[in-house]
Amino acid sequence: MTPQNSIYLDYAATTPVDPRVLSAMLPYFQKTFGNPSSVHTYGQQAEAALENAREKVAQTLGCRPKEIIFTSCGSESDNLALRGLALAARQQRNANHILISPVEHHAVSHTAQQLAEYFGFELEYLPVDRHGMIQPQVVAEHLKPSTALVSVIYANNEIGTISPIAEIGAVCNARQVPFHTDAVQAAAYLPLDVNALHVDAMSIGAHKFYGPKGIGVLYMRQGTPLLPVQTGGGQERGRRAGTHNIPYIVGLAEALALSQAESPARTAQLVPLRNRLLGQVLEEIPDVLLTGHPEQRLPNHASFVFKGLDGNALLMALDMEGFACSSGSACKTGSPEPSEVLTALGLSRSWALGSLRITLGHANQPSDIEALLKVLPPLVEKLRKLG
Ligand SMILES: Cc1ncc(COP(=O)(O)O)c(C=O)c1O
Repeated sequence: MTPQNSIYLDYAATTPVDPRVLSAMLPYFQKTFGNPSSVHTYGQQAEAALENAREKVAQTLGCRPKEIIFTSCGSESDNLALRGLALAARQQRNANHILISPVEHHAVSHTAQQLAEYFGFELEYLPVDRHGMIQPQVVAEHLKPSTALVSVIYANNEIGTISPIAEIGAVCNARQVPFHTDAVQAAAYLPLDVNALHVDAMSIGAHKFYGPKGIGVLYMRQGTPLLPVQTGGGQERGRRAGTHNIPYIVGLAEALALSQAESPARTAQLVPLRNRLLGQVLEEIPDVLLTGHPEQRLPNHASFVFKGLDGNALLMALDMEGFACSSGSACKTGSPEPSEVLTALGLSRSWALGSLRITLGHANQPSDIEALLKVLPPLVEKLRKLG
């Protein structure tokens, strides 16, 4: 079975580059290849492309262009937000307390854990409900005068749950605590206006919305103290050193604009497919649970746990049958330990090890779902018997 005749159902892991995005990028590899920091005409042309892209991104996020920091990926944006905000808050106001949710991507959670382990920060996890949602009231109860920052994921990669980011942001704003959200998964489908969301910092990465891999953005509200993490040249107003990757920056800006313009149509296309899948799996297969919120979830996202099943064995069997799915975060596939996100929902090991994530995208048709629904129930039964 070659990937060409396999059905791709893993759009939360990554997406193919939209041809319109690719054609916007191509001139910047060879024709307009200058370094925007150079003074000459080549540099000026590259700088014009950079600033156009920055403006385009700022328009989508409803912010000022100078509040956009281009990074190399969603992970880097998360790292810069967490480290940069925490270290600046400690230096400026002796704040030492970091609040995150227990359902963050490792780009946030491992960074926060390192800040605690090696840099002396006090790390506290916010309680979540059984759907993995973080309530604003809970955030309010956990804020302290020493809180350096709060970070809560907008839409969860493993379970699709969307948290009430605007309300959480308002709580943090009222207490003047910097609030960061990881919007890496949310960016493909959800509103990103940073003022409506009341965020001070927000991470996105292009490859989740039909842009290239290896490019991201950190929105950072003007006036929010931030210590640069990557030092060197003065790029990005001294907040992130490194020669700009112009083709990828242009690609991110184009993909983001297309994604925000087309997300209502994409949502309308995918929700019925996703709902058909959810309904049938929950009805036909015994001992299965939906993970994440039943309604407040990403429109393309279906995630389950099957009791007493090896999730990795299921993924491999599905791959052999021609379906590319995932068990959770792309980075975690292959790990024998149950996911921390699923454990945080209160699921026991025997449930959490049997996870399946199906995330739909632009190429999926109703026939893909029908084909999967034919294969999945007997496969689960067979693997349970073997296990
Ligand atoms: C919620 C979330 N945050 C961060 C990342 C990391 O993004 P990147 O792959 O661009 O480093 C991912 C990628 O899976 C993600 O889903």
